[in-house]
Amino acid sequence: MLFPLKGCIRIGSSRGAVTLAQSSKKARFEELTREVDSCCACGLGAGAKNRVVGEGDLDSRVVFVGEAPGRREDESGRPFVGSAGKLLDRLLADANMSRDRVFITNVVKCRPPGNRRPKREEVEACSGHLERLLEIIVPEVIAPMGNSAIGHVFERFGIEESVIGDAHGKPIRVQALWGEVVIFPLYHPAAAIYNRKLLGELEKDMLRLSRLLVGV
Ligand code: URA
Repeated sequence: MLFPLKGCIRIGSSRGAVTLAQSSKKARFEELTREVDSCCACGLGAGAKNRVVGEGDLDSRVVFVGEAPGRREDESGRPFVGSAGKLLDRLLADANMSRDRVFITNVVKCRPPGNRRPKREEVEACSGHLERLLEIIVPEVIAPMGNSAIGHVFERFGIEESVIGDAHGKPIRVQALWGEVVIFPLYHPAAAIYNRKLLGELEKDMLRLSRLLVGV
């Protein structure tokens, strides 16, 4: 277990850890949601039906990070509810991690038109939202899914660029503002829907991640 402090947020600083009462996580998340809802740092918000901040357990030890909301997510305001989401739910359940006990979000909170890959400037404009979310949740593990998320998270934590075929399923320990965190790269579930080889890899990686969380 990387974080012994349960029931507290630990906000790291060079001068040491500061703890905040648990109830403030919810208030800070609500504040972040309001900020995302009124954000106009890039053009994507103007075309979005809903901005998708993310959902799950604010006390989760693991945060899954996808690329951006798709059509179903844009319509519902919830992350990973389309076909990739159904597969993610199944993979989580098979690895004994129910969806409501983890936290799921995306690098970009608004749907890019036509489900195109978010542009670099859109990712940069949105990066503060992900940063704040992670500071609220203080996860032990961040699991970026797919090339966009892996690229962003690797850059953010100063990890050398790598291709997903090499990086997936291999934990990397880094230092976050709030303490040590493990980056655990995964294939994107959408890539595994019609690719049995990738699906097998993703299934194995999810089991590895679940074992990592129980300290095996
Ligand atoms: N793909 C993503 O990257 N995120 C979602 O929320 C849904 C599909």
